[in-house]
Amino acid sequence: MKLFAASAIALTLVGSSQAWWDVGHKLVAAVATSHMKNAHSIEQVNNVLSYMDTLYNDEVTEWEMGNYAAQGSSRPKQESTTLVQAATWADVAKSFYNMQIFGIWHYVNIRYDPDNLNCDTSVDVDAKTQMLQLSSDIPDTYNGRQTAHWYAHFGLNFLVHMIGDVHQPYHAVARCMMYDGEVASDFGGNRWTFITPANESTNLHSWWDSGQTLWGNDLQAEIEASDPEYTEFAAALIAKYPITKLAEMGYDTDLAREEDRTRMEESIDIWLNESFNLGVDSYDAAPLNGMMEQSYADEAHLIAESRVVIGGMRLAAVLDGIFAETNFPAFDISSTSTEDAASVKSEADAAESDGGGVSTGALVGGIIGGVVVGAIIGAVAVKMIGGSKSSSANANTEESRVELS
Ligand SMILES: *[C@@H]1O[C@H](CO)[C@@H](O)[C@H](O)[C@H]1NC(C)=O
Ligand SMILES: *[C@@H]1O[C@H](CO)[C@@H](O)[C@H](O)[C@H]1NC(C)=O
Repeated sequence: MKLFAASAIALTLVGSSQAWWDVGHKLVAAVATSHMKNAHSIEQVNNVLSYMDTLYNDEVTEWEMGNYAAQGSSRPKQESTTLVQAATWADVAKSFYNMQIFGIWHYVNIRYDPDNLNCDTSVDVDAKTQMLQLSSDIPDTYNGRQTAHWYAHFGLNFLVHMIGDVHQPYHAVARCMMYDGEVASDFGGNRWTFITPANESTNLHSWWDSGQTLWGNDLQAEIEASDPEYTEFAAALIAKYPITKLAEMGYDTDLAREEDRTRMEESIDIWLNESFNLGVDSYDAAPLNGMMEQSYADEAHLIAESRVVIGGMRLAAVLDGIFAETNFPAFDISSTSTEDAASVKSEADAAESDGGGVSTGALVGGIIGGVVVGAIIGAVAVKMIGGSKSSSANANTEESRVELS
């Protein structure tokens, strides 16, 4: 029953308020794909992306997708063997695989409190802490061992997504407001309702995520578009917003700094600051429950497009930097040349000879899936338990967003 509810919510989200929506995320990834320039990094990203192909294409996934279909979900199977596909994995994991523990990885609550209401918007981890962690973990070694292949894949999926998200102004601001008679966070604009110039009631978070600024009429078709279609769409945006134009719009364009992972925190603060300031302007243009000015709506359209382009360029620089230092082999499940493949395969073979009758593919997929989900949840639990306080009153959680949107 719980799963069904989650699927129903996710379906609504596809049509209403998925962060930056799928189209925005995929465009960021398409811009990044065309801007990466370090040949070794490009090869490394492809090697890492190749790793989970097994998981997304095996019988276990087919079985799960069958379950979602039985529950009325029409979400296409989520693969992540290209950056463009990988860009939406984090939303799909949260909404469809019910991995809601990662909801708070999608934003940073920079508090905006012009009325001195003093609301609590703090969270224990956020997109900033997790981007920093991943950019340092992926190229690092522990006890002489390289970061696990699956973790690099998981981390890459999240980096692509989070760098996209923090370029959406309302993933970097949380405003204090009175809500139901109490001082509260507006959950990244989710509670900040206003009327669009077209006389439709919406909220700032959804409005920025959605086609009302950019990706409008046939969103489902756009979600299902293929990589080449995104490449073409991205190329048009790149031509419209060359780097000189992005600098004129006030964006930092020091891509060399972004490529230097030792300066990642500085870079993230600059991205967040830009998004926060854009969010503040947008509050000014949209009084609570009031009408937004047409002139601002027109400008927001250009801002959304340009945020996608600068976000993609920055993502390319970050990936060029991180993966310049890694040496992940291309993953081949049938090969015994990598340690990962060898151990997964021998466990699968042992299980098959014990159990009989079950295909190796399903077992391999099951083992990889189990290891991945178990290890991820373990790692995150360790990270989150530390300073855990109840954040239900202040967290800008996706769950809250769902209720509010
Ligand atoms: C705007 O929408 C409201 C409510 O939906 C409606 O009552 C009003 O007439 C509309 N105004 C215009 C100018 O269309
Ligand atoms: C953040 O934005 C404000 C307002 O535009 C600016 O004054 C400040 O220098 C920025 N801070 C950083 C770290 O970029």
